Amino acid sequence: MPLRVGIVGTGIFATDSHLPVIQSLPELKPSAAYNRTKSKADAFAEKASIEAAEVYENLDDIVASSKVDFIDALLPVQNNVNVIRTAIKFNKPIVVEKPIAANLSQAREIVELAEASKLPIGILEQWAFFNGITEVKKVLPKIGDIISFTYKATGPWNPDNKYMATPWRQNPEHIGGYLSDGGVHQLALLTEILGEVDTVSAQTKQVRELSGTDDILFSTFKLKSGAIGTFTYGSAFGATDKSTSLTIYGTNGSIVYDFSPSLPKPTVTYQTGGNSKEASEKTTIEIDEVNALEEEFKNFAEAVKAKDKSLVRVPPAKAFHHLAIIAAALESSSNGGSSTKVELP
Ligand SMILES: NC(=O)c1ccc[n+]([C@@H]2O[C@H](COP(=O)([O-])OP(=O)(O)OC[C@H]3O[C@@H](n4cnc5c(N)ncnc54)[C@H](OP(=O)(O)O)[C@@H]3O)[C@@H](O)[C@H]2O)c1
Repeated sequence: MPLRVGIVGTGIFATDSHLPVIQSLPELKPSAAYNRTKSKADAFAEKASIEAAEVYENLDDIVASSKVDFIDALLPVQNNVNVIRTAIKFNKPIVVEKPIAANLSQAREIVELAEASKLPIGILEQWAFFNGITEVKKVLPKIGDIISFTYKATGPWNPDNKYMATPWRQNPEHIGGYLSDGGVHQLALLTEILGEVDTVSAQTKQVRELSGTDDILFSTFKLKSGAIGTFTYGSAFGATDKSTSLTIYGTNGSIVYDFSPSLPKPTVTYQTGGNSKEASEKTTIEIDEVNALEEEFKNFAEAVKAKDKSLVRVPPAKAFHHLAIIAAALESSSNGGSSTKVELP
């Protein structure tokens, strides 16, 4: 029997992205819906072939329903604490969309709630599921000790971005606006490969009025491993290529992971050798990337079926770290770029 999913917040991402993925997976079935504006939940239910009786009028009723096995919540993230609290009250596993919360105090509350509960509770940072991460990690031992890295995710401002019209993005309650909205994906990927960040020195700036707050971030990180590197993020520039890559420098070589959207496939290119004279030929691996949304839902379904929260790949404590890096970057920037410790949950 497929797990019955109750969707809370039937906006753009629920309709365009979660619904087709949930429908495509045999282990899941969209079974119930709730939205603040009910007409949108009705339209979603029709598209999802959810019975009219399974469109709920309030949050408590959908969460409490015996016909729902887990909740998939896609709300402006300042609502995440409340929906998680409600899920725990009715003993229902739940995933919520990233970033974990609007600020670190809400995020900390979510971590505490999740740690005190036996329920599977996950934060939907699908970039943590990229196959590229696994491929880079396979190559890492070849390049010796990791000294440093450069991470760059930059792109042009896209005036047709469908998400831009949402009022909660234009006047963000979540710290850093787009910097946390998309930045936590980038940081999930980076930290899955290289480990956690210890301190951040950053400069941020607002380029576009519609962003509501700062929208570009240039920074240096010191990782807990001791490696140092740069992290650059923003899609608020004038015409330029959309480019996403991570270069890792080691004592015995280097790796370039390029997953820019213009490439036919993401690539991992590496060369080994302790210096320029000993440099090997470059080896390039083309990556067959997975559908990361599918992978994160498969992962959560497994945890729900097994009733085992330890199987959840991005639990609140991990997602807290990603938001805490953005918080440290914003604090650093407001202090002229001073070195700022990343807070612990
Ligand atoms: N993982 C990813 O790659 C990715 C991509 C895009 C979005 N997301 C995440 O998905 C979530 C939804 O984003 P979206 O783009 O779909 O936004 P959206 O279209 O604005 O949808 C948000 C939904 O939440 C409801 N809502 C708004 N304020 C509420 C409140 N105070 N209480 C209860 N419900 C409320 C809205 O209901 P109304 O109809 O009444 O306004 C709307 O249906 C966000 O957390 C976002 O970060 C993730």
